[in-house]
Amino acid sequence: MTRRLRLGVNIDHVATIRNARGGHHPDPVRAAHTAAAAGADGITAHLREDRRHISDRDMERLANEIALPLNFEMAATEEMVAIALRHRPHAACIVPERREERTTEGGLDVAGHVETLRPLVGRLVEAGIRVSMFIVADPRQLDASKAIGAPVVELHTGAYCDAEGEARDREFARILAAAAHAEAIGLECHAGHGLSYDTVKPVAAIATIAELNIGHFLVGEAIFIGFEASIRHMRALMDEARNR
Ligand code: PXP
Repeated sequence: MTRRLRLGVNIDHVATIRNARGGHHPDPVRAAHTAAAAGADGITAHLREDRRHISDRDMERLANEIALPLNFEMAATEEMVAIALRHRPHAACIVPERREERTTEGGLDVAGHVETLRPLVGRLVEAGIRVSMFIVADPRQLDASKAIGAPVVELHTGAYCDAEGEARDREFARILAAAAHAEAIGLECHAGHGLSYDTVKPVAAIATIAELNIGHFLVGEAIFIGFEASIRHMRALMDEARNR
């Protein structure tokens, strides 16, 4: 039987547009409600250390006001753990973060930080939060994620999306192999970063991937066709690829 593929809609860049002018418009919580109406299975938001898009108040409102499961993207810091434990989102995705980067550029080096990440992940898991590690498609990082007790990994699709031709094929082969490895060692597998209408289908067709998290492209496309329509079209492409 084909497993259903979930779509987590990342609303960070609704907040980016709002923050360009200050004030309240456009409201990320309204965007979350629109995403729910358009068929999203979850809402994803990244509270960055520098608060460049999502704010503390946004997180509080998302935790209290939306019905869909909330996936809190967070750096592995004490400050973010405290916020996660306060709001108890459905899920937390641990991401690497450097202040100077434009977006989350690489995966988390779980294998290189096992001793610091194990207790941090343990506290979140104990609080009933489903923890995922945002990693590049490398078996070492998958094995380390399993070893520290994370139940889920999210594979970074940025390199696949950025590459072209044979280089893209090579990146895709890595994602395919990593998704199979995740299944073999008992990890739930998600994927995301940089996905668009052009790049989503091969990833959506990987039957062992349970969830895609997509944001920037959907918010950009909303300028032309509306947020609800952009999500509906992405959802349709995902379903088409998965059900083929
Ligand atoms: N997954 C993770 C872990 C991310 O950090 C991001 C970007 O915030 C995404 C998915 C979504 O990426 P994009 O906005 O490029 O679709």
